[in-house]
Amino acid sequence: LPEQLIYFDNAATTPVDEKVLESMLPFLKGDFGNPSSIHGKGRVARTAVENSRKTISKYLNTSPSEIFFTSCGTESNNLAIQRVVNDLGIKNVISSKIEHHCVLRNVEALEKLDEMQIHYVAIDEKGHFDLAHLDELLTEIDGQCFVTLMHANNEVGSMMNIKAAGEVCKKHKAIFHSDTVQTVGHFNIDLQDIYVHLISGSGHKFHGPKGSGFLYINNELQLSPMIKGGPQERNIRAGTENVSHIVGLGKAFEIAYENLAEESKYIQSLKNHMIEMLRGKVSGVGFIGDFDGDSLYSVLNVSFPPNKKDEMLLFNLDIGGICASSGSACGSGANVGSHVLTALKTDTSRKTIRFSFSKFNTIEEIDIVVTKLKELVEG
Ligand SMILES: Cc1ncc(COP(=O)(O)O)c(C=O)c1O
Repeated sequence: LPEQLIYFDNAATTPVDEKVLESMLPFLKGDFGNPSSIHGKGRVARTAVENSRKTISKYLNTSPSEIFFTSCGTESNNLAIQRVVNDLGIKNVISSKIEHHCVLRNVEALEKLDEMQIHYVAIDEKGHFDLAHLDELLTEIDGQCFVTLMHANNEVGSMMNIKAAGEVCKKHKAIFHSDTVQTVGHFNIDLQDIYVHLISGSGHKFHGPKGSGFLYINNELQLSPMIKGGPQERNIRAGTENVSHIVGLGKAFEIAYENLAEESKYIQSLKNHMIEMLRGKVSGVGFIGDFDGDSLYSVLNVSFPPNKKDEMLLFNLDIGGICASSGSACGSGANVGSHVLTALKTDTSRKTIRFSFSKFNTIEEIDIVVTKLKELVEG
C-alpha cells in the first residue's frame, strides 16, 4: 500500500478516535470483570456499561432503559424488524427499495410468507421517500402496520425528514422503525420530538469500534428476546456484554455530539469543496441524489461520463492510495447492480463512485483526489 493513504470511505467505516481507544483499553486489561458479577470487578464493569447507556440516552434525549446494546447496526435492524413483526402479530409492513441490505433482506423474507403484505413507499429520483404515498398506504391498510424507513441512505446520502415521517405514522398509529445508522453521531436526534418506536445505531460509523451497536426501543413496546439465554440487556439480548466496545461506543457518542456543530460544518465544507473542484476541473461529472439539498454532509456520490477505462477507475484510485467506494451499477466484489441506483433510475452507462468524508480529512486531500480523477478520467 502507498505510504500516504487518503481515506474517503467513511460511510463504510471510520477510523477509531484515539480517545475512544484509550477509553476502551482498561476494559481489555485490568478491568476485565463480568458486569453480571456482584463482586468488585463485576461492579466496575457494570458501572462502565451503565454509564455508556446513560451517555447515549442523554444525547438522544431519552431514558437509559430504552437503550439496548447490540453487536452492530445489522443486528439492531434484525432485532427491530423480526421482534416487532413476530411479537405484535404484524401483517402489513411498509418499507422502501433503497434500504440497507440488512433491512431489505428481512423485508424480502417476510414477503415470502403468505400471511404478510409488504408495501414499498414511492421514491423520487433524488432518493427521497414520498410521504404523501406513505400516508395513502397507511390509509388503505386495515389493522396495525409496521413502517421501516431509513433516515439517510448510505450509498447516495439522501435524507428522510424523520419527524415528518413520524407524524404520518402517528396519524395512523403505525409502529415506526428507522435505520439511523448513517445519522447517529452525525445529526442531533431528539427522541422526545420525534414519533418513532425504534432506531438503530452503529459505533464504527462515528469513530467508535466495529462490532458495537445499539437499538433504541420505546418503553411502550414489550419485545421478546432475539438471543435467548441470560437476563442481559433487560432480557432482550442474552450474552455477556462486550464491555470495552460498549465503553468505546459511549465515548464515541460523547465526542461526536460535543463537537457536532463544528465538525459537521467542517465536513460539509469538504464536500462543498469537492463539488466545486470537480465541476471546475473534471469535464462531464455529475452528482447522484440530493447532493446539495437534504443529504448527508459526509457523502458525495459522483458520476463520470462513460469511458473505456471506467472499470479501472476505482482500482486506479486504490493503486494511487485513495480509498473510496463503488457506488456503481455493478458493486465492488459483487456481480449484481446497486439496488439503490436501480431504484433511483440512474444512467447505468456512467461509472459512479461514493466519496465519504470525516473530521480527519482535509481540503488538501480533496485537491489531490480531484487532480487524480482528472488524470484518470481525461488522461
Ligand atoms: C444505513 C446502514 N444500515 C445498516 C448498516 C449496518 O451496520 P453494521 O456495519 O454496524 O452492521 C450500515 C453499514 O454500512 C448502513 O450504512
